[in-house]
Amino acid sequence: MRIMFATLIFGLIIGCSGPDPTQNLSAKEAFIDSLINKMTIEEKLGQMSQSTGHWEMTGPVVADSSNLELTRTGRLGSFLNVIGAERTRIAQEIAVNESRLGIPLIFGYDMIHGYATTFPIPLAEAASWDLALIKKSAEITALEASASGIHWNFAPMVDIARDPRWGRIMEGAGEDPWWGSQVAVARVKGYQGEDLSSLETVAATAKHFAAYGAAEGGRDYNSTEISERNLREVYLPPFEAASDAGVAAFMNGFNDINGIPATAHDFLVKQILKTEWGFNGLVVSDWASVQEMTDHGIAATDAEAAALALEAGCDMEMVSKTYINHLTEKLALNPSYLSMIDEATRRILGVKYDLGLFDDPYKYSDSVREARVVRHNDHFKHAREIAKRSIVLLENRNNTLPLNPNLRKIAVIGPLATDTETPLATWSAQGRQADVTTILEGIKLAVGTDTKVLQADGCEINSQDKSGFKKARGLAKQADAIVAVVGEHALMSGEALSRADIDLPGVQLDLLKMLKETGKPVVVVLMNGRPIAEPWMYENCDAVLETWHLGVQSGPAIADVLFGHYNPAGKLPVTIPRSVGQIPIYYNHKNTGRAFEAQDRYTTKYIDEQHGPQYPFGYGLSYTEFTYSNLMLDKPSFHQGDSIIVNVTLTNTGDVPGEEVAQLYVRDLAGSVTRPILELKGFQKLMLDPGESSTIAFTIKAEDLRFWDRNMKFKSEPGMFKVFVGTSSADLSESEFTLLD
Ligand code: BGC
Repeated sequence: MRIMFATLIFGLIIGCSGPDPTQNLSAKEAFIDSLINKMTIEEKLGQMSQSTGHWEMTGPVVADSSNLELTRTGRLGSFLNVIGAERTRIAQEIAVNESRLGIPLIFGYDMIHGYATTFPIPLAEAASWDLALIKKSAEITALEASASGIHWNFAPMVDIARDPRWGRIMEGAGEDPWWGSQVAVARVKGYQGEDLSSLETVAATAKHFAAYGAAEGGRDYNSTEISERNLREVYLPPFEAASDAGVAAFMNGFNDINGIPATAHDFLVKQILKTEWGFNGLVVSDWASVQEMTDHGIAATDAEAAALALEAGCDMEMVSKTYINHLTEKLALNPSYLSMIDEATRRILGVKYDLGLFDDPYKYSDSVREARVVRHNDHFKHAREIAKRSIVLLENRNNTLPLNPNLRKIAVIGPLATDTETPLATWSAQGRQADVTTILEGIKLAVGTDTKVLQADGCEINSQDKSGFKKARGLAKQADAIVAVVGEHALMSGEALSRADIDLPGVQLDLLKMLKETGKPVVVVLMNGRPIAEPWMYENCDAVLETWHLGVQSGPAIADVLFGHYNPAGKLPVTIPRSVGQIPIYYNHKNTGRAFEAQDRYTTKYIDEQHGPQYPFGYGLSYTEFTYSNLMLDKPSFHQGDSIIVNVTLTNTGDVPGEEVAQLYVRDLAGSVTRPILELKGFQKLMLDPGESSTIAFTIKAEDLRFWDRNMKFKSEPGMFKVFVGTSSADLSESEFTLLD
């Protein structure tokens, strides 16, 4: 049916008739081949070009007139930042009705943690260890966006980040390649569903290919030097997982890897992505990253930059115009570029085809559906659900939490308690401050009618002014408990928002010290887009909740945890360092020949910093206690091609029901190359009542033990392994097994 429509539209627009000479090809290939045969070079380069619109302007402004003229003349195939059913329809009508071949536009947009309903930042969601809910956030994002005329999301960002100074750590799933891969797949499947042509799904993009998160010094856009082994073992797995999950697009990184900008990295894009992984979708550059290759100093002119990107397999150029302006002249000098241009065009038309745009180019631009679907109440319910599950309980001295909702007085102090901008974080897309329920409101809604909630900012997020301390102290002294809401403003993490220090900005630490001096219990609600290194806070406050930036339902979700309506179960997807000097610090490091020994001077350590992180990867407390026992393997050894089962008993030994994320790690004791001291290989999230036990079984297949060996072959090597199960990467029971030939 679909193909019939496609053929009909195609026939009408292009005027094709007669027997189809390509009938042995699949219908899609035949359609695209036939279309490509009709296209001029300018039209092909047009498909390979993407411009930005002006969605932020009010009124029916879609884009400036030059971009609309490009659309009209077939020299533009895609927009980003043109959103909304009405505006996308206006632009689409120009492409379909006025350009010679009527090829529909594809509209892309950044929806990193929601379209209009803002969910927790991706790093926060990764702390939920709940793949079904993570997928659901992506599904809702797609549902809302697709009703607003958007076809294509520039997400998920699957960059592994081992440096919390890097502002974009908030956009990904943290430091671990295995967990990053699971989350990548959940998000791709959530955005794309089973069928890209469905009205409720959008194309997804795995970005930024590759190793953008490894920016030297954590400074955004900075260069990277990475061995091929490290690249393949640490940075590429989530990308490969996304490719295997059928992601429609990849985006180049801004960074240079070992001397070659990612946008011109033919080994990465042509060899690894398109050849080894067999990726069939489209590769889009990052914003002007083709043209920026002249600044990188790898291309002397824009024309050279265009040629380098094309040769490397970058199919579509975002924002800069080097393809449309220069590839015709390059082609005149080098006819072999024609097949590359055709290939890029084919991939782009392929995604448009899969979205069903040739059947009905307007089907996503539906104002009625848009009004019905966007910001639906059910989406807000989900926002609260995933937000409370993303919270990590870092400290809870003397069972300070949960708070009794019937306390006489609660003092809510701190600059973020009433902030409506910060919960939305950066990349808030169409999220609105008016939709945010703040922490103060969340607390007020949760407490009993006799409880008085007092409030003072105390200070600003990032200033040296302490004049508000006096009022804050006065209120704190009257209260039975203090909830101190501190952290980073929305614009302190995200793109181009790296920090050289990752402590609490301004005088917020002094505010906490002053509050602690009142002798009242201090519960810190930390809002942040990256790990915060602030040892005094963690070591002295009575309770600390890591709440990240949680989206529109921040207040109710945090109140759910503060008052025990929900028992927190989040676990850190990233290590929290004690100080900036420890960075990079991550759990899956190598052992060195001189592993840390406190008493031995000649072992790996800093002489001026305690060894180890503040909190390890996988860490997070609960209002109950869990005990692991009876770690047993079903056999002592197994062969290649086979698997082993690891059993462990988990018991809730505390007083309230709770969920635990049981984690499985392995260590290859002697490989042909050095191996990490721990590697996450699995997890299970379980709900247990007080006193209840459950036996958990993990399966480890020989192929799960593969790595890039001394000869750069991906295989598992026979030998001894340790296996670990426990509550975090630093609190584990262990056993051993042997992998045989
Ligand atoms: C970012 C990308 C984003 C693009 C389009 C760039 O600056 O690096 O992640 O998708 O802009 O907004």
